Amino acid sequence: MVLRIFIFVQTLLKFIYNLSFAYTFWNTYRIFQIYSPSDLPYYSLYSSLLGYGAVKIVFFMIVFALIWGLQQFVLSIIYNILNDALTTVIINLSGGQKIKGFNGISEVKPTNFNNKEWNFVAPMRLVSRTDEVVKYVSMGNEYELYHYLKGDKNILKSLYGLEEAVESIEKSLKIVLDPETSKKFRAMGLSVPKNIILYGPPGNGKTNFARTVAQAYGLPFFVVNASAIISSGQLVGAAEKTLLELFANAKALRPAIIFFDEIDAIAKKRRAETLNSASDILINILLTQMDGFEKVDDVLLIAATNRIDILDEAILRPGRFDQKILIPNPDKEARKKYFDLFLGQKIEKGIDAELLEYLANSTEGFSVAEIKTIADSTLTDMILNHKSDVQEILKTHINKVAQSKNKAANS
Ligand SMILES: Nc1ncnc2c1ncn2[C@@H]1O[C@H](COP(=O)(O)OP(=O)(O)O)[C@@H](O)[C@H]1O
Ligand SMILES: [Mg+2]
Repeated sequence: MVLRIFIFVQTLLKFIYNLSFAYTFWNTYRIFQIYSPSDLPYYSLYSSLLGYGAVKIVFFMIVFALIWGLQQFVLSIIYNILNDALTTVIINLSGGQKIKGFNGISEVKPTNFNNKEWNFVAPMRLVSRTDEVVKYVSMGNEYELYHYLKGDKNILKSLYGLEEAVESIEKSLKIVLDPETSKKFRAMGLSVPKNIILYGPPGNGKTNFARTVAQAYGLPFFVVNASAIISSGQLVGAAEKTLLELFANAKALRPAIIFFDEIDAIAKKRRAETLNSASDILINILLTQMDGFEKVDDVLLIAATNRIDILDEAILRPGRFDQKILIPNPDKEARKKYFDLFLGQKIEKGIDAELLEYLANSTEGFSVAEIKTIADSTLTDMILNHKSDVQEILKTHINKVAQSKNKAANS
């Protein structure tokens, strides 16, 4: 209950903060009514150069910028102080002990990995706990943390068709997770392969891949919500503070993985006209943070994108996301395994080898997600219509997906 009140107050604070923008507009408008541009020094000079209308607009913009800047400055100070105080109280209430606001503590030793509670440098809320995974989320919901309790390398075998990708990331982990090896790499002037970008057509398990690797190795898995960071970026320095917190927490719990899913949302090629948009600022902050992490070997950074072609080159440069791992459409063998996993293992008789062969042959170029759609709609039809001719139903759904793929390709 008390926790809810605090969260309510925090939300209220954000609301008041946003309200202040409208107030600024109103204030500026009023000032504009009291003063006139002719109060400006050298007014006649400007107006002969620009014309009266232009002077008016420029005057309005200057006043607005001044008031807005000042207000933003004062409010962000007040907001940050209050917000820090609130989060500290919330953490104390929810049972954490040593945790304080980020400022002032440089590093906190992580508690034993097997302990259920962690000491974060920046506070996080525990949101759920099962036998398999404990989930935390940052105070502003900008990033999540999954603590997998049952690490097991065998689950990597469930990544059908991604054997090469698995091999490649395991090679990285071998270097990253062993200080001796990474030291040797540095001594030889080799770079430690700790920044990885997963790319390839959508729906083939990039997100699933990163998650499964974290789980297999029992590594703390941070997932970043780029759009939440962008919207919190309204506050001066808020996005920067969030990323600082994120990296500091990962460092405190290392070895760990930070995962930037769908990074194209924030790392599109910069164009002149969109320069200084929220995402440009965010990507610059991210790159700065990554550069600062150059020497931290055991925090693996993984990004994923469906559109590596539209990413800003700066993000793929050496020292940035320079290890590229392709997550391709599944090949024939993998398609068979996915049909068996999503459908065969769920129906009584299973799917015989002949039908599997047929399915794999008729779904060349399909993604894992599309195979799952076909399997799920087949199961649905079987349940709802009491149909039993699996092959017939499958054909219908394969055709449907194929048709919508054609449509998408032609549009
Ligand atoms: N190895 C796998 N085992 C089971 N389901 C998988 C596997 N790989 C992908 N999927 C499923 O396929 C769908 C797409 O995977 P996702 O990771 O979201 O792809 P991407 O991130 O590349 O777009 C999801 O429903 C996911 O659960
Ligand atoms: Mg994904």
